[in-house]
Amino acid sequence: MNKKSKILVLGSRGLVGSALMRELFAQGYLNVLSPLRPELDLFRQAEVENYFSIHRPDYVFMAAAKVGGIFANDTYRADFIFENLLIQQNVFNAAFKSKTPNLLFFGSACIYPKNAPQPMKEDSLLTSPVETTSEPYAVAKIAGLKCAQNFRKQYGLNWLTVIPANLYGPNDTYHSQNSHVIPGMIARMHEAMKNDDAEFKIWGSGKAKREFLFVDDLAKACLHFISHQGEKPDFLNIGTGIDIEIFELAKLISMKMNFQGRLVCDQAMTDGSSRKLLDNSKIESLGWFPKILLEDGLDIVIKEFKTKNA
Ligand SMILES: NC(=O)c1ccc[n+]([C@@H]2O[C@H](COP(=O)([O-])OP(=O)(O)OC[C@H]3O[C@@H](n4cnc5c(N)ncnc54)[C@H](OP(=O)(O)O)[C@@H]3O)[C@@H](O)[C@H]2O)c1
Repeated sequence: MNKKSKILVLGSRGLVGSALMRELFAQGYLNVLSPLRPELDLFRQAEVENYFSIHRPDYVFMAAAKVGGIFANDTYRADFIFENLLIQQNVFNAAFKSKTPNLLFFGSACIYPKNAPQPMKEDSLLTSPVETTSEPYAVAKIAGLKCAQNFRKQYGLNWLTVIPANLYGPNDTYHSQNSHVIPGMIARMHEAMKNDDAEFKIWGSGKAKREFLFVDDLAKACLHFISHQGEKPDFLNIGTGIDIEIFELAKLISMKMNFQGRLVCDQAMTDGSSRKLLDNSKIESLGWFPKILLEDGLDIVIKEFKTKNA
């Protein structure tokens, strides 16, 4: 990737897309296109084909998707499979027709089998069933990964996939029900504090473990991977190699937000998989390592959240 390459970031207003924009500008890439939905609706095949045929990007980062936490995945099951497949097929189709040489697709840790050995290696993919709550989303993501992989195999294109751990960072979606673990917990704890609640309900047993990656670390890994010149795999994990119990995470967030009440576990809510730790050895062998510790990343996002919700 050189500084004149034409780079297209899809989903540039989202958590991952906006981190990619920050990193691209920080590294001096100036020829970056970042159309938002009103300019380019990825549900519309003709619109997507037309955009690609006019702009002919050298690099595409596919950070647009239907995304959400465990509750949203389980509630809007049809939307999660249908919208993701639709966006993916429209983008792959247009990228292929306009001969896009480099493309990065985003998978998710939930594509691995529910019972995959921990930490999860890339070769666990498709060895047994995935977790039921996120199955529709996972099936769409597996289809996207397989599309990129087989376009690479058949046509020699540099179409790759990253499989990030749970992400958090600036520009996240803070919704009490539909968000991922960290933004959802911050939003619900903020509500509890506003209501002077004596207790805060943690979803599930609190014993499930999750791995969290600050999104700016992911953005650096994406640029590192796509522009790596040597031999590289079709897809790889990107995480920190460290996970934490949900109860411990809630304790950390409550300390940082100064929530004085009790933390209780709501066993009526599902835990999802008990553990989802990624094996990071492939990306580390290419020379990328995470830099931002969970403690520090939480300080950044809680400060951003408080500023926006003062
Ligand atoms: N967040 C995580 O923890 C996580 C973890 C692993 C993998 N990932 C993957 O990373 C990628 C990015 O996720 P994210 O967390 O950044 O999601 P996000 O914050 O929800 O951003 C998604 C973006 O996609 C855009 N989009 C959705 N449908 C569109 C359409 N029809 N036309 C145009 N734009 C559309 C959204 O635009 P609007 O703003 O207009 O809605 C939004 O900007 C996804 O593929 C996701 O699966 C995320």
